Amino acid sequence: MKKDLLGLKDLSADNINNILETAETMKLILSQPNKKTPHLQGKTVVNLFYENSTRTRLSFELAAKYMSANAANITASGSSVQKGETLIDTAETINAMGTDILVMRHSMSGAPHLIAPLLSASVINAGDGMDEHPTQALLDMLTIKEKKGGFKGLKVAIVGDINHSRVVRSNIYGLTKLGAEVSVGGPSTLIPPGMEKMGVKVFKSIHEAIVDADVVMGLRIQLERQKSGLFPSLREYYRFFGIDEKRLKFAKPDALVMHPGPVNRGVEFSSSVIDGDQSVINEQVTNGVAVRMAVMYILSRGGFAD
Ligand code: CP
Repeated sequence: MKKDLLGLKDLSADNINNILETAETMKLILSQPNKKTPHLQGKTVVNLFYENSTRTRLSFELAAKYMSANAANITASGSSVQKGETLIDTAETINAMGTDILVMRHSMSGAPHLIAPLLSASVINAGDGMDEHPTQALLDMLTIKEKKGGFKGLKVAIVGDINHSRVVRSNIYGLTKLGAEVSVGGPSTLIPPGMEKMGVKVFKSIHEAIVDADVVMGLRIQLERQKSGLFPSLREYYRFFGIDEKRLKFAKPDALVMHPGPVNRGVEFSSSVIDGDQSVINEQVTNGVAVRMAVMYILSRGGFAD
């Protein structure tokens, strides 16, 4: 059994389907007036975030509290990390306080893989550098499953800053394992070499990437990770790669518009597309709570089958 969720690369299609089915049950709880369940009673969940977050951190905290766990948050800026404490010492300190689940976001790819074998607690990767963001991809997949009924043969176009995105990597692992056809698109400076080896089609033009797509997923342009200018300006990016209502017509008429957030309005999508009828961005956020409840529940019951 796997005691941790470090990435979708490590999970089987059966593991992923099990999470999605459990999340569907958890979602029923979210629609109740009383959202309290005893699923994690007596368990302790700690969120350790070395990078900023609104959705992921809050949804893990709410998911833990809805399931009656003791939930606590630590940010790097308010911790002894500022005094020079190492990642491993910090993680072992949190583990020694009786923590059952440690949820961690870190700017370094591989950081959760480094600490997970050292801890008795289950480690959940809440985003590591440019590697993976598995619970984001799972909530994206739950949203797609709800709206489209399944994944086999579904055309999913992921466009934007492919190079710096951990969301795209987790989505590619998860979606291709369940039978979706994934294409990626964006400026050539934002697409790393060798993406085809991950089993996806690569397009340098937005029209080709999204034509006949069932799902159009935009990725945030991560200006904070770009050391040098990889395209002239945000205005130029929007002109050639941004998706407005006219461009969205290249996709299927009932294509879903998705984005992990936070969105740069007027860069990845026009506001009319973000707020339009095809957008399921807020439903993704709701599903984030259900998916995180499901993952923590499964880990508290022994983890994922090998
Ligand atoms: N999608 C996502 O990870 O958002 P946050 O950075 O707000 O957690």
